[in-house]
Amino acid sequence: MTDIDRIGTAALGEGGPLVGVQGLGCMGMSFAYGPVDADASRATLERALELGVTLYDTADAYGAGDNERFLAPFLKAHRDEVVVATKFALSIPPDDPTRRIVRNDAPYIREAVEASLKRLDVDVIDLYYMHRRDVNVPIEETVGVMAELVREGKVKQLGLSEVTAGELRAAHGVHPIAAVQSEWSLFSRDIEARVVPAARELGVTLVPYSPLGRGFLTGSFADAHQDLTADDFRRQMPRFTGDNAAANAALLEPIRAIARSHDATPGQIALAWVHQRAQVHRLPVVPIPGTRRPARVEENTAATRIILTAEELAQLEPIADQVTGTRYADMSFTSAGRE
Ligand SMILES: NC(=O)c1ccc[n+]([C@@H]2O[C@H](COP(=O)([O-])OP(=O)(O)OC[C@H]3O[C@@H](n4cnc5c(N)ncnc54)[C@H](OP(=O)(O)O)[C@@H]3O)[C@@H](O)[C@H]2O)c1
Repeated sequence: MTDIDRIGTAALGEGGPLVGVQGLGCMGMSFAYGPVDADASRATLERALELGVTLYDTADAYGAGDNERFLAPFLKAHRDEVVVATKFALSIPPDDPTRRIVRNDAPYIREAVEASLKRLDVDVIDLYYMHRRDVNVPIEETVGVMAELVREGKVKQLGLSEVTAGELRAAHGVHPIAAVQSEWSLFSRDIEARVVPAARELGVTLVPYSPLGRGFLTGSFADAHQDLTADDFRRQMPRFTGDNAAANAALLEPIRAIARSHDATPGQIALAWVHQRAQVHRLPVVPIPGTRRPARVEENTAATRIILTAEELAQLEPIADQVTGTRYADMSFTSAGRE
């Protein structure tokens, strides 16, 4: 492999460590998106690292700890080369995967961090996110506890997921926030109104999750009920089923046309768009597309070298406003639902 195959880097928070400009979402390796394949997932982790991916994203909620346990041997083998991000706050009861329990209180966080350290089998978590906001606990209190974890050496940097601009500002006043992780893609652009400008103002890196629209933007499925297994989480998402799915599939046409002219795939265009959109907003981004297949990590990292023209960006501009169906069934689960 030549150096040219490796992706570039971006800082994780102001003055923070440099990481590969694309990270790897590991959730699907254990949970949410149908049957898992441990061997292919392990090969994906290794291939990603060879290509310069250094930020690996997990959460305690992914498979009720399974995803963190799955990552542990990889982290042991490459501890100094990778940055591991995990999250607390959310639990999904295995007997009812449609339910979400959110906790941001001090005793919960203290228990959660110890459990994650143990499952990941590391001495310190590089980036620790609050996964979801529990509005019963002031954000200053939650971040105060997270800051204690930094002082105690259990955690290096702090992150927040799906917070509003106001919550981000309040949190940053307590302790520097290195990263905000929120959904951002050609189909989901609500954070550009307030969260992205606040992140830029504060020097916070954006970590866009589901940059491939949970796979929909790649064309790998068209209707979640018809194409995905019964346990697949995407069947609960309004935009991926029935009339919404059919209408949204039609929106992929301009993406496909642009992909053809670059000899690229629609997924690569979706990823290139996130990188270029962040440049417009003048803030660092490290998208974390999720995949369990080495060939796809090659495809996804190669997207960092695609440059879209102003004309192509203009063609992609109207798509998000035309999407039918919300990105979650319950939007109070997102920053947009609270802003
Ligand atoms: N903070 C949060 O609340 C939150 C929420 C959701 C996700 N996340 C994090 O963000 C990461 C990424 O988001 P995501 O996994 O939801 O969505 P995504 O990255 O937009 O899409 C992932 C889906 O696309 C497929 N895929 C990936 N590369 C592909 C390619 N080149 N061609 C065709 N299909 C491709 C994957 O299938 P294969 O695996 O079979 O390749 C998977 O089904 C997750 O892994 C997780 O770590 C965070």
